[in-house]
Amino acid sequence: MEKQMIFAWAMIFCLAIAPVYGQYYSRTVKAGPRVEKITHLHFYYHDIRSGNNPTAFLIASLNITQDPPSYGTLFAMDDPLTTEFELTSTLVGNAQGLYLALSRDLTKFSAVFYADFTFTTGRYNGSSFSLFSRFPPTDVVPAPGTIREMAIVGGTGKFRMATGFALLRPTSSNDTVGDAHVEFNVTLYHY
Ligand SMILES: *[C@@H]1O[C@H](CO)[C@@H](O)[C@H](O)[C@H]1NC(C)=O
Ligand SMILES: *[C@@H]1O[C@H](CO)[C@@H](O)[C@H](O)[C@H]1NC(C)=O
Ligand SMILES: *[C@@H]1O[C@H](CO)[C@@H](O)[C@H](O)[C@H]1NC(C)=O
Ligand SMILES: *[C@@H]1O[C@H](CO)[C@@H](O)[C@H](O)[C@H]1NC(C)=O
Repeated sequence: MEKQMIFAWAMIFCLAIAPVYGQYYSRTVKAGPRVEKITHLHFYYHDIRSGNNPTAFLIASLNITQDPPSYGTLFAMDDPLTTEFELTSTLVGNAQGLYLALSRDLTKFSAVFYADFTFTTGRYNGSSFSLFSRFPPTDVVPAPGTIREMAIVGGTGKFRMATGFALLRPTSSNDTVGDAHVEFNVTLYHY
C-alpha cells in the first residue's frame, strides 16, 4: 500500500516537472518573493530643434496650414541628458524616441511621448527606462516652475521591470524655435 502511494506520488512529480514538448509556452510557476528597490534619478533633458546641431526633428505633420507644435505633428528625438541645466554639462545619457503633438488648441502644447531613456555612464551605464505618457497641455510659453508628471512603464538592465514616474519642470524653452530644456526627477521602483 505504502509502495503504491510512493509510486503514485513519483508519477505525479514526474508529470509535473516534465517539459512540455511541442508547446510554445513553459509551465507557469509561482515567482519567488522579490525585494522591490527604489532609485531616484535627477538630470536635465534638452530637446533642441534649432541651430546647426538639432537633437529633434519633425518627421511628419498634417498638411494643414499651421506651424508646429500642433495637432498631429510627429517628432523623432535623440536628446542628451546632462547633470546640470547647461547643455554643456556632463552628459549622462540620451532619450531616444518619438513624440506626437496632440493639442487642437494651438495656444497650448501637449504631446504623447514614447521614449527610452538610456544611461551611458556610472552605475546605470547601459540601463534604461521606458517612458510612455502624455505631457499634459501647457501654455506654449509655460509658466516657469510648473511641475508636470509622466508615467514610466518599464526598463532594462538594472532597471528591468521598472515602473515609476517622472516629475518635470521646464527650466527654459524657446517656442519660436521649439527648444525645451527640462529638469527631471525620476522615481523608479525596480528589483
Ligand atoms: C494637402 O494635401 C491635399 C491632397 O494632396 C492637397 O490638395 C492640399 O493642397 C494640401 N494642403 C496643403 C496645405 O499643402
Ligand atoms: C559604458 O558601457 C559601455 C558598454 O559596456 C562601455 O563601452 C563604456 O566604456 C561605458 N562607459 C563608462 C563611462 O563607463
Ligand atoms: C527635484 O528634486 C530636487 C531635490 O529634492 C528639488 O530641489 C527640485 O525642485 C525637484 N524638481 C522637480 C522638477 O521635481
Ligand atoms: C528664441 O530663439 C530665437 C533665435 O535664436 C531668438 O531670436 C529669440 O530671442 C529667442 N526667444 C527667447 C524667448 O529666448
